[in-house]
Amino acid sequence: MDVIVGGGVVGLSVAWRMAREGRQVTVVDPAPGTGASHAAAGMLAPVSEVTYTEAPLLRLGMASLRRWPAFAAELSADAGLDEAAGPGAEQGPNRPDAGQGPNRPGAGRGLDLRSDGTLDVAFGADDLAALDELAAFMDKLGLPVERLTGRECRRLEPMLAPSVRGGLLAAGDAWVDPRRVTAALLAALERRGVPLVRARATGLLREGGREGGAVTGVRLDGDPAELRAERVVVAAGAWSAELAEVPVRPVKGQIMRLRSPQPLLGRCVRGTVHGSYVYLVPRGDGELVVGATQEELGFDTRVTAGGLYELLRDARELVPGVTELEVADVVAGLRPGTPDNLPVIGPSGTPGLAFATGHHRGGVLLAPLTTAILLGEESELAALCTPERFREIS
Ligand code: GLY
Repeated sequence: MDVIVGGGVVGLSVAWRMAREGRQVTVVDPAPGTGASHAAAGMLAPVSEVTYTEAPLLRLGMASLRRWPAFAAELSADAGLDEAAGPGAEQGPNRPDAGQGPNRPGAGRGLDLRSDGTLDVAFGADDLAALDELAAFMDKLGLPVERLTGRECRRLEPMLAPSVRGGLLAAGDAWVDPRRVTAALLAALERRGVPLVRARATGLLREGGREGGAVTGVRLDGDPAELRAERVVVAAGAWSAELAEVPVRPVKGQIMRLRSPQPLLGRCVRGTVHGSYVYLVPRGDGELVVGATQEELGFDTRVTAGGLYELLRDARELVPGVTELEVADVVAGLRPGTPDNLPVIGPSGTPGLAFATGHHRGGVLLAPLTTAILLGEESELAALCTPERFREIS
């Protein structure tokens, strides 16, 4: 039996895919779906989130984005969402799931999966200069983006401020509602009879009780007090380093959800306002997610006035209408950051121990690829994520 420690989108996805492959798995988490996955906006946006130093991450993101439609379709079917929603709903030209089989019309709709692209906009002259440089970099990488004037941006998104000076459209980017994904994964696991132990893993069991020995299970703070396993997969996000030697640290993100009677935007909008980043992600039900701060403050999950102020200040410059919306939810989550911003996925080097952690800003995006790597379906990209690369420093 495999024990998956961590009930966020990554851990639950790993457990679900393994269960589908006929493996025996158990998930351990005191409160599944309440960590970073609860905070996350769910951007599946490898192109618009690319940065100058992260070309390997871009490869991972693009590969995982390609896997999302089939992943969502299979998950929806396994969770019974298709039955709940009925056939034929939400058919439009821009869904990522048009087609046959796992990509049949409507697949993924219960997860609010949409691929209407991301519009990355610039507010000030300095932001526009940075956007032009980014466009040139993306061009060199061969990324499919379109440079737009301010007017063209507003034609796409009429609620954008008149002062927005220009933008970049990444038409292939997508997004999903991570809270729905978590709920669907939990439902799918329940339907497959996968045990969920609501307890905190406090340590690893080692062969002969020796430090550094093969891992044979986990100790728990509940009942049962321990679980024996052939393999333990640590998918505990920012808390992974408390359980095993892996260089993962918490990176705080504050994020808010606003409620709108009808959707304010048709696609994800990211923007820079005098060098400060903000993104706005529209949900099908009118909710608008505005995020997110990026703070190195350890395990601090306080929502602060300053954090929310910065988000709203920048969001309002880009989309003035946000100030009219009702505040539905504010939350701070902890991203699991690594020294090179790449995830840590695969066997640890210690028998019986594997990792699926360190996904930093991309846990939701990278979940399908993570499962593929752990199931041995992606050997080339697996090399980028190997825990072995940190052997010297962890
Ligand atoms: N991927 C968006 C974030 O981490 O804030």
